[in-house]
Amino acid sequence: MLNFTYYCPTKVVFGKDSILNLSTLIPDGVKKIMILYGGGSIKKNGIYESVLNELKTFEIIEFQGIKPNPEYIDCLRASKICKDEKVDFLLAIGGGSVLDATKFIAVLAKFQGDDPWSELVENKLYPSKALKIGSIMTLPASGSEMNCGAVISNKEKKMKQAYINPIMYPNFSIIDPSYTFSLDTRQTINGIIDTFTHVMEQFCTPDVNSPIQDGFSLAILKTLLKEAPLVLKEPKNYEVRANLCWAATCGLNNWIGLGVEQDWGTHKIGHELTEIYGIDHAQSLAVILPQELKAKISEKKTKLEMIAKELFNLSEGDLANEAIKKIEEFFRSIGAKTKLSEYGIDPKEAATKVEENLEKNKNLGLVLGNITPKEAYNIVLNS
Ligand code: NZQ
Ligand code: ZN
Repeated sequence: MLNFTYYCPTKVVFGKDSILNLSTLIPDGVKKIMILYGGGSIKKNGIYESVLNELKTFEIIEFQGIKPNPEYIDCLRASKICKDEKVDFLLAIGGGSVLDATKFIAVLAKFQGDDPWSELVENKLYPSKALKIGSIMTLPASGSEMNCGAVISNKEKKMKQAYINPIMYPNFSIIDPSYTFSLDTRQTINGIIDTFTHVMEQFCTPDVNSPIQDGFSLAILKTLLKEAPLVLKEPKNYEVRANLCWAATCGLNNWIGLGVEQDWGTHKIGHELTEIYGIDHAQSLAVILPQELKAKISEKKTKLEMIAKELFNLSEGDLANEAIKKIEEFFRSIGAKTKLSEYGIDPKEAATKVEENLEKNKNLGLVLGNITPKEAYNIVLNS
């Protein structure tokens, strides 16, 4: 096991009707709350009314229209409203995009610099002041509800970068699995793939004798394999949705990443593909993960063999390669595409663009991503 420090101030309230705790979770002294959401799914599935009902005693303003793969320009706009309107609390209602934007807005709202993107993201500045935030999660995928990361796109600079600052931990996150009943098949599959890949980025790395983390990681992967076919058959099965919600949170709340090597190469490449071609975050991962595992099979052999035995009950043959094959088969069995050509994207063109971007942004961003632009080129070329 490697050395580590663990810290997470987020209070998680999990389960049906956990929204009823909302008003008691808002910190003392808060008067004006900005609720932030995306394109309106919360108005279709009734969450919006429930939230307003619970916040009747507070002054509320709204910021809507946060897009998937949230954009810096929208975060700037929202942070200006926060300053002008003297907002003192931010409540994100949605998936990872809404919450990531809210986290970054919380920092921007207290930041005085004149070029926040360059100072914060490119020069890695970590201010210790931000507005407090809470979240009501409606899509199990990013794990953002219990971590301090945010992935923001800067369209002008053609970048999609992670920014990680402990001040961005939500004060609380409400996770009600019934809020995910309204997810369509595409977003349900995305959540499973994103969670699976988060675990692989932290578990499928050189062995450092970490039986607790390894067992925990395998438990999350086994849960995904078990629940994925069920949720596609019964989208309103509460128990299945609840297990997928908790799997997503544990997939990136740092518990399984404590004391182990982490990779993040698949994410590093995936973020570029989303930035260049606009495919969903998880769709990029389903294409890249199998190829990255192949490219790094020697350093990942022990863990891939563990996956072959523990997840797929294999006991002989080339277990590491078999595990990779089974993972790709699992992705395809739930309807995820695993080839760029299935999105009409030419792998050679994509490989060249990804390599150029990673070369240009070489020292940027905090997604650990121990992958060189050249390695990335070869991985994308084969995907
Ligand atoms: O626009 P809204 O109304 O929010 O609709 C969303 C959006 O269209 C919809 N949706 C969400 N919950 C729903 C729902 N539709 C019906 N019923 C519900 N209950 O789903 C669409 C996608 O939402 P989005 O928030 O973009 O998806 P997700 O949660 O997968 O977040 C993706 C973002 O998370 C970032 C990704 O880069 C991407 O920008 N990530 C954040 C991480 C973190 N903070 O630690 C790590 C991850 O690796 C990831 O990079
Ligand atoms: Zn992810």
